[in-house]
Amino acid sequence: MLKNKLHHEIPKIKERVKALQKDGNRIVDEIDVASIIGGMRDLPVMFYLGSHLDPIEGIRFRGFSIPEMQAKLPKINKEPLPEAVLWLLLTGEAPNVAELGEINKLLITDQPLPKSTSDLIINYAKHHHPMTMLSMAILDLQKHSKFAQGYANASLKKNHYWEATLDDGLFLLKYLPHMAALIYTTKYNKTPVKVTRSDWAGQYSEHLGFSSEHVAEVLRGYLAIHSDHEGGNVSAHTSYLVNSALSDPFLSVSAAVNGLAGPLHGLANQEVLKFLLTLRDYLKGKAIAITNADDLAFQKEIETFVLNWLKTGVIPGYGHAKLRNTDPRFTHLKEQALSIMPDKELVKLVHTCEKVIPTVLKGLGKVKNPYPNVDAHSGVLLYELGLTEFDYYTVVFAVSRAIGCVANMVWARALNLPIERPGSLSLEKLEEIVQSRQ
Ligand code: MLT
Repeated sequence: MLKNKLHHEIPKIKERVKALQKDGNRIVDEIDVASIIGGMRDLPVMFYLGSHLDPIEGIRFRGFSIPEMQAKLPKINKEPLPEAVLWLLLTGEAPNVAELGEINKLLITDQPLPKSTSDLIINYAKHHHPMTMLSMAILDLQKHSKFAQGYANASLKKNHYWEATLDDGLFLLKYLPHMAALIYTTKYNKTPVKVTRSDWAGQYSEHLGFSSEHVAEVLRGYLAIHSDHEGGNVSAHTSYLVNSALSDPFLSVSAAVNGLAGPLHGLANQEVLKFLLTLRDYLKGKAIAITNADDLAFQKEIETFVLNWLKTGVIPGYGHAKLRNTDPRFTHLKEQALSIMPDKELVKLVHTCEKVIPTVLKGLGKVKNPYPNVDAHSGVLLYELGLTEFDYYTVVFAVSRAIGCVANMVWARALNLPIERPGSLSLEKLEEIVQSRQ
């Protein structure tokens, strides 16, 4: 069904792309020196089907906002199922019951991890950061790539690239929760619980060692909303770029994981937890009760701490390279936290910080976006549910982001997009250009 649907959809999208190419000489935007030196900020230079990020509204997945996904995608409780998000990113539609059944079957396995991969994790997880371990484990699976094998022996024809990419991507996603959970249980001496759930995120929670429905539900939402964030973020772009060289999905997702492991990208969620725990200890040290977000005296205490913190550091989880408003993923997690754990200390702290920090940052006068992004909230739910090893949090992000990476690679190969090869300008060339345009 999935492949049939894609066989049907691909020519339609190809037609639209062809029509656009007829207008290929239309100017989209101008490039200025500041963007070139400033990390290509705000330059719309990629074609990317999966999602669109508006600086004010936030993310839409194939046109669906997060509230729309929550309303229209299949769920077990309230959270959209990540397997349904994969279907949406691939096909542009919410799956029906039969389609959900199919994608779920493709993503679930009771087979053990390939032995070399589990041996690798068991032998090395204790010595490495969990993201380093995940990246290595994904690389170990690369020997199973149908794309790489088919390309090497010339049996894979160009119009089948997308199918081999999809097969590899599904293979990887099928084992990803197992790998990610084995990294967790090995590194932190945990024990998985018996698998009783039949959904992808639910099983991941059990492999991690949690039987609580709250953990399963938090993971469903987490894995759904982190899956894609347009093409320009470091992880999505990395996998897209690497895959454009026809490196297979394993090589591409492993590269994405390496980018996600940076503190300015996915690692920010562990930095937020460090910040919040320091804040909590500071309040406890001063015998200040953690009350609620509307308590003005409590807000004042947090403001004092934040102003002090800013003398030596930045506030993790606030601001964003592209967003200029509160991240709707933050809002989604906030609502989830308020519905399942409103009285938890860290939840109250995050929500009070949301009231205080934007005003403090605005007061500095130079912050483009003083509002919270997803990282400001994501770790807190996991922490309060008992997953307290916060250097693991970016792995959960990676399990989710792999969904978006895979879906967008499938489309890039279906549309035969060329290798990415932007140009660069040397210092002398840029100086010459600036001189000539005075
Ligand atoms: C993401 O989800 O990738 C982050 O918010 C970073 C970004 O969009 O640049």
